[in-house]
Amino acid sequence: MIVAIDGPAGAGKSSASRLLAARLGLALVDTGALYRCVALAARDQGVAWDDDARLAGLVPTLALSFGWRGGEPRVYLGGRDVTAAIRDPEISRGASTASARRSVRDGLFDLQRRLGREAPGGAVLEGRDIGTVVFPDADAKFFLTADPRVRAGRRLAELVGRGVATTLAAVLTEQEQRDHDDENRAVAPLRRAPDAEPIDTTALSLDEVVATMERSLRRRGLIP
Ligand code: DC
Repeated sequence: MIVAIDGPAGAGKSSASRLLAARLGLALVDTGALYRCVALAARDQGVAWDDDARLAGLVPTLALSFGWRGGEPRVYLGGRDVTAAIRDPEISRGASTASARRSVRDGLFDLQRRLGREAPGGAVLEGRDIGTVVFPDADAKFFLTADPRVRAGRRLAELVGRGVATTLAAVLTEQEQRDHDDENRAVAPLRRAPDAEPIDTTALSLDEVVATMERSLRRRGLIP
């Protein structure tokens, strides 16, 4: 079973994907982490985040994988645990730039398909274009949204929790720019697939979001 979860940053995709995957015993594929790894590797190797020719050469050389440690999902790049490093604000900007490049998206396409297909029992994939581009044939698709201020508030809490000094206003401004870029880029723009179920998470708890997804999967006979 393939479950696609798309939506803008701060809509609650990561938490919901994680809990849904754990409850259903499915693998979890955080595709944003793959774009972040590309940005990190590019920076480390002196490759500009918009240098298509060099990015196209770099992406296939990257050994990207997911794992768990102490009950927490981890991301590995060439055997190195980069889970924390890829959340750095500089790498977030790099991932935003690199993810708009066709060289990078094409380079990650097969890997995403493979990670989903090879997972025993199936996978929950979260990203921006899972239901539209990577798995247009997914068994179930959800598109999460939330009020922009609520999304920014969640992001602020996450950043402050990691010791990053910032403000709600700064997060909101950067979020608006990111939303605009993601929705208007030429390649795989952020868009709800026509057959994706929209879920507005503004006033929902994490449990309520996941319960909504489970009800939908049950209604369609995908889970008992
Ligand atoms: O979800 P995230 O913030 O970790 O994603 C990092 C960046 O990658 C963000 O700018 C959106 C982009 N992205 C994308 O273009 N397509 C995906 N499937 C996942 C993420």
